[in-house]
Amino acid sequence: MKSWVVLCFCFFQTACSLTQFASISPQDPVLTIGSSLTATCVVKEEFSLEAKTLFWTLNGKRLPAKTYTIMNKTALAITLQHLNGSRQQSGDNLVCHSTEGHILAGSCIYVGMPPEKPVNLTCWSRNTKDLTCKWRPGGEGETFLKTKYTLKYKLRWYGREKECDDYNLGDPYSCYIPRDLALFTPYEIWVEATNRLGTASSDITTLDILDVVTTDPPSDVHVSRVGDLEDQLIVRWSSPPALKDFLFQAKYQIRYRVEDSMEWKVVDDVGNQTSCRLAGLKTGTVYFVQVRCNPVGIYGSKKAGIWSDWSNPTAASTPRSERLGDSVCDPKSGEQNSTLRRELKQFFGWVRKHAYGCNGMSIKLYDQWRVWLQKSHKTRNQVLQGDKS
Ligand SMILES: *[C@@H]1O[C@H](CO)[C@@H](O)[C@H](O)[C@H]1NC(C)=O
Ligand SMILES: *[C@@H]1O[C@H](CO)[C@@H](O)[C@H](O)[C@H]1NC(C)=O
Ligand SMILES: *[C@@H]1O[C@H](CO)[C@@H](O)[C@H](O)[C@H]1NC(C)=O
Ligand SMILES: *[C@@H]1O[C@H](CO)[C@@H](O)[C@H](O)[C@H]1NC(C)=O
Ligand SMILES: *[C@@H]1O[C@H](CO)[C@@H](O)[C@H](O)[C@H]1NC(C)=O
Repeated sequence: MKSWVVLCFCFFQTACSLTQFASISPQDPVLTIGSSLTATCVVKEEFSLEAKTLFWTLNGKRLPAKTYTIMNKTALAITLQHLNGSRQQSGDNLVCHSTEGHILAGSCIYVGMPPEKPVNLTCWSRNTKDLTCKWRPGGEGETFLKTKYTLKYKLRWYGREKECDDYNLGDPYSCYIPRDLALFTPYEIWVEATNRLGTASSDITTLDILDVVTTDPPSDVHVSRVGDLEDQLIVRWSSPPALKDFLFQAKYQIRYRVEDSMEWKVVDDVGNQTSCRLAGLKTGTVYFVQVRCNPVGIYGSKKAGIWSDWSNPTAASTPRSERLGDSVCDPKSGEQNSTLRRELKQFFGWVRKHAYGCNGMSIKLYDQWRVWLQKSHKTRNQVLQGDKS
C-alpha cells in the first residue's frame, strides 16, 4: 500500500487525479525549509464522507489528529509547522484518507532551499580535442530538491551560447563537451543551478583551450636494469602519441615505490627527456614505476599545462646483492664487488650532491666514471699483485 502511494502521487499525478474522491489544496506546493503549510482535503459532495472521519499521512506515516482542523462537513485541514527538507527529492507524499484507510487524494510537497551559486568551476582539455568541466555545488550543497545543473559556454567576443549535453561522467557535478571547440579564442564558461525554488549562476570562467591541455599518459613505459648495478633502474617511455603534431615542450614526472609500500617517491625534474635513471634503490627489490606528462606551452601557450594521469604501473626488480652468494663460492670476487658497491655509493653520493635529479645523472658522466673506475681497478690489482710478488 505504502509503495503504491509513493509511486502514485509523486510520479503519476495526472493518472491518479482521475480516480480522486477528494481534492487537496494547495496541490503540490513548493516551500522553503522552516516554513509552515496548511493543506485542506475537500471531499466531493457525492461521496457522503464526513470530514471528521478522515485522516492524513505524510510519507505513509499517520499524522496526529491534534494538527487537524475541521473546516466544515466536507473539508479537513492540516497544519504542518517548521517543515524539514523533503525526504525525497521527488517530493514528499501528503495523503488524505477515509476512515478505512482508502486514499482519497494526494499532494506532493516540495520543501527545500533554492540552489546556491556553484563554485570551483575548473576545466581541462584532453589533447586539445574536447573539454571536461567540473564544479562544486555552492553553500552546503544540499537543497533537498532535485537540482539541475547546466554548463553553458560561448566564444568570448562573438559566440552563440551553447549548452553542454553529456553529464554522465560519474561525477554529478561535471560535464563533457566532446568536439567542435575552437582554439586560439577564449571561451566564457559558467554553470547554472536550477530547482523549483530558483536559479543561481556560477562566476564566469574565461579560458583558452590551449591553456588547459592535458594529455594521455606517456605510452610504452619500460623499466629495466642497468647492467648489474644493484641500486639502479632505467625508465624509458615515449611521448604521448596524440600530441605528436603539436609544437610543445613536454615535461615529465616519474614516481616509484617498492612493491610492498604505498609510499611513492617522485622525481619531478625529469624535464623533457624520455628516459631517466633511478639510483640509490634497494638491491633485489621490485619497484613499481609510473610516468606522467605535462604538455607545457602548446602552440606557445604561456600557462603551465595540466599533468596527465599516471601511466599504468610498470614493474622491474633491481639485481640481488651478490654478497651472500659470493661469500660462499668466491670470496675474492665478492670482495671486489663490495668494493665496487662502495665506490658506486660514493659516486652517486657525489652526483646527488653536485647535480640534481635526472638531468644531473648524465650517461656521459657515468661512462667517464666507469673508465676511471676500470683504470683505478687495474692499478689496484697491479699494486695487489706487486704486493704478493
Ligand atoms: C468547506 O470548506 C472548503 C474549504 O474551505 C470549501 O471549499 C467548501 O466549499 C466548503 N464546503 C461547504 C459545504 O461549505
Ligand atoms: C523535522 O525533523 C525533526 C528531526 O528529525 C523531527 O523531530 C520533526 O518532527 C520534523 N518536522 C516535521 C515538520 O516533519
Ligand atoms: C573550492 O576551492 C577552494 C580553493 O581551492 C577550497 O578551499 C574550497 O574548499 C573549494 N570548495 C568546494 C566546495 O569544494
Ligand atoms: C628539451 O629541452 C631543451 C632545453 O630546454 C631543448 O633544447 C630541446 O629542444 C627539448 N627537446 C625536445 C624534444 O623538446
Ligand atoms: C662481481 O664479481 C663477479 C665475479 O668476479 C663479476 O662477474 C661481476 O661482474 C661483479 N659484479 C660487479 C657489479 O662488478
